[in-house]
Amino acid sequence: MTIQWFPGHMTRAKRQIQEKLKLIDIAIELLDARVPISSRNPMVDEILGGKPRLIVLNKSDLADPKATEQWVKFFEAEGHQCAVVDSSTGTRVGDIPLKAKQILHEKIERQIAKGMNPRAIRGLIVGIPNVGKSTLINRLAGRNIAATGDRPGVTKGQQWIKVGTEMELLDTPGILWPKFEDQVVGYRLAITGAIKEQILNVEDIAFTAVKELSARYWPTLSERFGLTQPPKDIEDADEIVRVMEEIGRKRGALMGGGRVDLEKASGIILRELRAGKLGRITLESPYPPGVEKLLD
Ligand code: G4P
Repeated sequence: MTIQWFPGHMTRAKRQIQEKLKLIDIAIELLDARVPISSRNPMVDEILGGKPRLIVLNKSDLADPKATEQWVKFFEAEGHQCAVVDSSTGTRVGDIPLKAKQILHEKIERQIAKGMNPRAIRGLIVGIPNVGKSTLINRLAGRNIAATGDRPGVTKGQQWIKVGTEMELLDTPGILWPKFEDQVVGYRLAITGAIKEQILNVEDIAFTAVKELSARYWPTLSERFGLTQPPKDIEDADEIVRVMEEIGRKRGALMGGGRVDLEKASGIILRELRAGKLGRITLESPYPPGVEKLLD
């Protein structure tokens, strides 16, 4: 479902997370590895305050492994520990309790030095809608936890879920909002399917996808759809539409008179991209384009 994030909702969501922070040792900030910037809440540092934090790049099965590696280095350089997981299959989700323990090891050692028996680490998963919070909770729990109301302001009784013997998670994640006042963020989240198409026009979403893919993944895009000519100028809207039309023609998305049905073509592009049919793609880099090219 689509959430309308009114200012009141944001305040309530923030307050709810801050209440939960009192109960936990570590926050697990979940991001979409394909769009680590756009899937990040703009106020996350302020909301989490000084709470120890593990950044988790989810949906790594759909993201470009090279870009994911760059993102891990970037977050580590910022002083964060970072795990890379695929919650849909459970790949590497076991790194989460391990890294949480590493982050908290000083606290744990202090407890041991005082003769205390350290209790299980308590964690809270936080992230924007559709980043994979419920899927990850279910994976870590090893079973299906009842669907949580993924809406700000909807609460239910909280329970601790055991993750192995050394970690416990709150069963309701902390729901954050995206930086939706930024149009690019909205389109990128729509490209990945995190924002439903009813909100933004499908052709506009596909236009942005083709533009961004032409810039970063032209060989992949051209191979998938059998395209001949990259856009001469990425900033020239006519050139992007020309590529979209070529895709439509290749896939038989035609209307009367042989004109391309751009809406249908757009649907095809987005479906295949989201399903990973174009390969593993990341739309955001921690580096400006010039620097990224040098790293290639
Ligand atoms: P949320 O609680 O943060 O709102 O996200 P949720 O777990 O509902 O996940 C949103 C969508 O992302 C789901 O797909 C889920 O299956 C998918 N997903 C979560 N983690 C991963 C991952 O690591 N890799 C991939 N490929 N997909 C992931 P959906 O189409 O909305 O639902 P469904 O078809 O799985 O039922």
